[in-house]
Amino acid sequence: MFLDNYWYCAALPHEVTVKPLRRVICNQPVVIFRGSQGCLVALEDRCSHRQAPLSTGDVRGNNIQCAYHGFVFDNTGVCVHIPHQDTIPSRANIHAYPVEEKWGFVWIWRGDLKKANAAKIPNLPWTTDAGRSPVYVYFHVKANHQLVADNLLDISHADYLHSSTLGSKSGIMGGPQPDSLEFRTWQEGDEIHSYRKLTNVEVASFPKKWGNFSCNVDRTNIQMWEAPNTVHVHLEFENNENKILINHDHIMTPETETSTHYFMDFTRNFGIEGGEYPTDDDIYNEQYSVISKDDLPMVEAQQENINLCTGVVDVPVKADKLISAVHRQLADMYSSRAISIPSYVLVKR
Ligand code: FES
Ligand SMILES: [Fe+2]
Repeated sequence: MFLDNYWYCAALPHEVTVKPLRRVICNQPVVIFRGSQGCLVALEDRCSHRQAPLSTGDVRGNNIQCAYHGFVFDNTGVCVHIPHQDTIPSRANIHAYPVEEKWGFVWIWRGDLKKANAAKIPNLPWTTDAGRSPVYVYFHVKANHQLVADNLLDISHADYLHSSTLGSKSGIMGGPQPDSLEFRTWQEGDEIHSYRKLTNVEVASFPKKWGNFSCNVDRTNIQMWEAPNTVHVHLEFENNENKILINHDHIMTPETETSTHYFMDFTRNFGIEGGEYPTDDDIYNEQYSVISKDDLPMVEAQQENINLCTGVVDVPVKADKLISAVHRQLADMYSSRAISIPSYVLVKR
């Protein structure tokens, strides 16, 4: 049910230490740790002897020793020690995942090992731009990864669900309307892009403070989705007083069919001197609060309804153009790999 031959975001770097971290990724248990000199290791979190999680064991150099009977595995998954035994059968070896640390995230490769190439990790250059300040957030979500992605692909929800903090209030029935609304999507290779601009709209409390805006703004969202499930957002707020830029990326890694590891970076071109609002802590707290109080309860509630009401289908509207384009692309990718198309990306042609 999951697409292979992609890098999947597995952790934030600070989460990976000499203490093994267990993380289920695409229904597979994975253990990640740092060996000698900080070397990153990612292995199946399943001892070949009796299936104990290796994450309950101890890291020794670049190896990990199972807590149950003491088998030892090296960083390539080879079993290098079986207590009280000289010969080690090769079937005792376990899978080792290619692992990379890049752009402030730890990534593992799922798929053909010969195709693992760090250059294919999603490109997030704004996270290392000296003129930006990146903030990183992780959420565990009790909902399918595509529901979480759809939340980001449907930026119109900000004008309603986040009307008091981030949106424009133009989603409210009878609310103030923009002078104009432009929204288009297009495809480049496997990537799906969109451009959405509202002109002369109210500015909600967060961007109002970020840009010291006293009156209406033009709000531009430029987005790009790429497989397996990353949503890049370029956001601009502008009027004759100021213009501020934000790039944020949302990386949804399936844990299971109904749960998700949601990683996010948020970079901005303002308030990066330190000390004055907004500091990195202010931005972290704002983003954490909005996503955990508004978005995640909504997608988890959607998942609960979907679990109860099997067979229901969505009613896409104009604002869902980007979601529909991404679902069509995913449906094509599943079909071309001869994988049955999951219900959550089934779309009407
Ligand atoms: S289960 Fe790991 S050594 Fe026995
Ligand atoms: Fe949201």
